[in-house]
Amino acid sequence: MFLFTSVVELLGVGLVIESGRARAQSTKVLGSYFTDNKVEIKSIENKKFTQDSIIAMNQLKGYPNIELLYGNSTDLILKQVTRPCTVLIDGPKRHEAIKLCLQIIKDENVKAIGIHDVNKNTIFRHIIRSIFTDTIFSDENNFVSRYSYLDDRVWSTLPKYKMTRDWAPYRVGDKKMENYGPTLGIIFNNKNPVRKDIADVYLTTLLDLERKIKQDLHGKAWNIIRDYSEKLIYYLSFQLAYKDYISSIKLDILKSGK
Ligand SMILES: C[S@@+](CC[C@H](N)C(=O)[O-])C[C@H]1O[C@@H](n2cnc3c(N)ncnc32)[C@H](O)[C@@H]1O
Repeated sequence: MFLFTSVVELLGVGLVIESGRARAQSTKVLGSYFTDNKVEIKSIENKKFTQDSIIAMNQLKGYPNIELLYGNSTDLILKQVTRPCTVLIDGPKRHEAIKLCLQIIKDENVKAIGIHDVNKNTIFRHIIRSIFTDTIFSDENNFVSRYSYLDDRVWSTLPKYKMTRDWAPYRVGDKKMENYGPTLGIIFNNKNPVRKDIADVYLTTLLDLERKIKQDLHGKAWNIIRDYSEKLIYYLSFQLAYKDYISSIKLDILKSGK
């Protein structure tokens, strides 16, 4: 997030569009960092009736410069690009994220894109570096050696939490990692941001692969049933939470129907 907020400041843009809010950890960091209202934050999440969406609403009380939007970023981002901005993509991931970058970089008001989880020596990192002409990554040695001291307090706090207790620089538990931590990439929209020949080959291959996967319906019925029942539970919680946007929500009570 330090890399992303620095890029926003260096480019001097007044609009940040976030794709993939979930529980709004990153949204909250953006809202807390840009407190002077010179930067407007529009945050997009495609799943509405979920526990995450309620947690996010509660997390973001009292941040007047954050607007919460629901829908698919592929349809929504460019509609929000009304002036120079930077975009932060933390969902979708992988190929969908790269496709989204290729879509939105066509708009010259999108000055830079942050794309999360693009670790060293992964196929996605290679694709991004091949397609886009101007990129930087938060796990590059010069960036880590200059700024990792800012994380000192973070690394000592993570062991307190179940989910992150095994996280450390360059490893998770006993497993060594090539990257310092989860990596953010920045794609700058310079004069010729995309190597079109490589992008064309990539998109053609990818679309072909997607078609093949869609033909394989194995397991699809179960996924539909699971998504539908999860949605119903959270739909009820969401309706109540939305009415009472400002107050705290006792999710457990709502879910048990008491
Ligand atoms: C890893 S989570 C985001 C975490 C969040 N940035 C944070 O720091 O707490 C990814 C989120 O992206 C959402 N997402 C995935 N594809 C999306 C799309 N096409 N449009 C909008 N949201 C999307 C998912 O529903 C999920 O909630």
